[in-house]
Amino acid sequence: MDTKFPQDFLWGGAISANQSEGNWRADNKLPSVADVMRVNERTSLSMTEIAKRVQDPRDELYPKRNGIDFYHTYEQDLELLAQTGSQVFRTSIAWSRIFPSGDEQEPNQAGLDFYYKLFTSCKKQGLKVMVTLSHYEMPLALVEKYGGWKKRQLIDFYVRYCKTVIKAYADLVDFWLPFNEIDSVFRHPFISAGLVKEDQGLNNLCQAMHYQFVASAIVVNYIHRKTTSKVGCMITGMQIYPATSRPEDNFLAQELRQEMYLAGQVQIQGHYPARILKLMQTKLKLDISAEDLQLLTQGTGDFLAFSYYTSIMKGAEKDAEKAEGNTISGQKNPYLPSSKWGWQIDPVGLRTLCLDLADRFNVPLFIVENGLGAEDQVTEDQQIHDEDRIQYLQKHLEQLSTAINHDGVEIMGYLMWGMIDIVSSSTAQMSKRYGLIYVDYDDQNRGSGKRIKKDSFYWYQNMIKEAKR
Ligand code: BG6
Repeated sequence: MDTKFPQDFLWGGAISANQSEGNWRADNKLPSVADVMRVNERTSLSMTEIAKRVQDPRDELYPKRNGIDFYHTYEQDLELLAQTGSQVFRTSIAWSRIFPSGDEQEPNQAGLDFYYKLFTSCKKQGLKVMVTLSHYEMPLALVEKYGGWKKRQLIDFYVRYCKTVIKAYADLVDFWLPFNEIDSVFRHPFISAGLVKEDQGLNNLCQAMHYQFVASAIVVNYIHRKTTSKVGCMITGMQIYPATSRPEDNFLAQELRQEMYLAGQVQIQGHYPARILKLMQTKLKLDISAEDLQLLTQGTGDFLAFSYYTSIMKGAEKDAEKAEGNTISGQKNPYLPSSKWGWQIDPVGLRTLCLDLADRFNVPLFIVENGLGAEDQVTEDQQIHDEDRIQYLQKHLEQLSTAINHDGVEIMGYLMWGMIDIVSSSTAQMSKRYGLIYVDYDDQNRGSGKRIKKDSFYWYQNMIKEAKR
């Protein structure tokens, strides 16, 4: 492979709590927004539907309730990750294990103990720890009682939770990310911000986004004052093309790009673009105080973290063929192949995006998610020949290497998603697999849970070894 990486470049793997841990009611945990999601469901949930689902005892219909039982298997799973030569493990803390309803005054000790053991186990394996504080798993009670992030009180609840875990794990965590893909409030408002179907109007979306930005800034500031860890702000990295050179198509593409940049501008540069602030204050009449704006300037990230899976093509033509994407869809790009789930595969788009984000934000970048969701077949002799995944990862890493060596972009590291098969975030399928390690469960949680190393496992191991030479 034609790739070169700096000696201090960090390699690793990433997952999230809600997609892996399972054991959704263990040790005083209460439901989170993830625990009411069913397989292949694209509709928004109403408050009435949620109330029914929480009472539904059929756990097999809600794959995130089961995950891959990482709650019990983390020691063996981390050992496997370490065998690849990885140096960093990224996961999230399930807020509802620490504050089961979200609004308690005191944390749940059993939840705190679990993450202490998990992070200690990472250290035993020689892994640095990156923690996402909120990855699509807020306590469901905050939705039921407060309507989610449309309410200002959520800032206090989130900050209390974050300060508790930051204090508890300051010596174990190397990198913190306050929110996973904070910009995704607009694309999946329920799992990102706890906004139910009846609450998904523009005002609530923007208000929720603003409260999350303020909460994030308070937490970033706290981490800077109280720890020596680095803190990143994470966005959904997308390469965006106009469908044609028609100015109208270019405008649509630019509009989406501005949406992606917004989270970076607020979290890295510390302020809203003037026109956005004006729209939010005068047209939408949102609750944005002078103190909020001050806080935003005081809590900016040390690096820009982003996920990258696909590129999106935008155009005005209504009948154009569609392509799917990471919580967002666009038109089919005739120059790109697609995954089985219709996500277009665009390694060059990653290089272009790195260039764009590096110059725009002027901080180091960290790719904290990249991978291919695919169906894997286990052969009779228990092997998984996932050549497509290897090709996907290899081509993206070649482009990343070019971005570093040729274009001069500063990139801190690369974490592949999701190191081990876990439940898909958007479709809640177990059959949509990203891992280097196969996990024997199907969409209804049937299976032995056995772990099998895929061909990509050995490929990643070798690639890291070569890169460190
Ligand atoms: C990212 C999320 O947007 O995409 C992950 O942060 C998610 O949680 C990943 O798993 C891949 O998406 P999906 O829907 O295929 O699991």
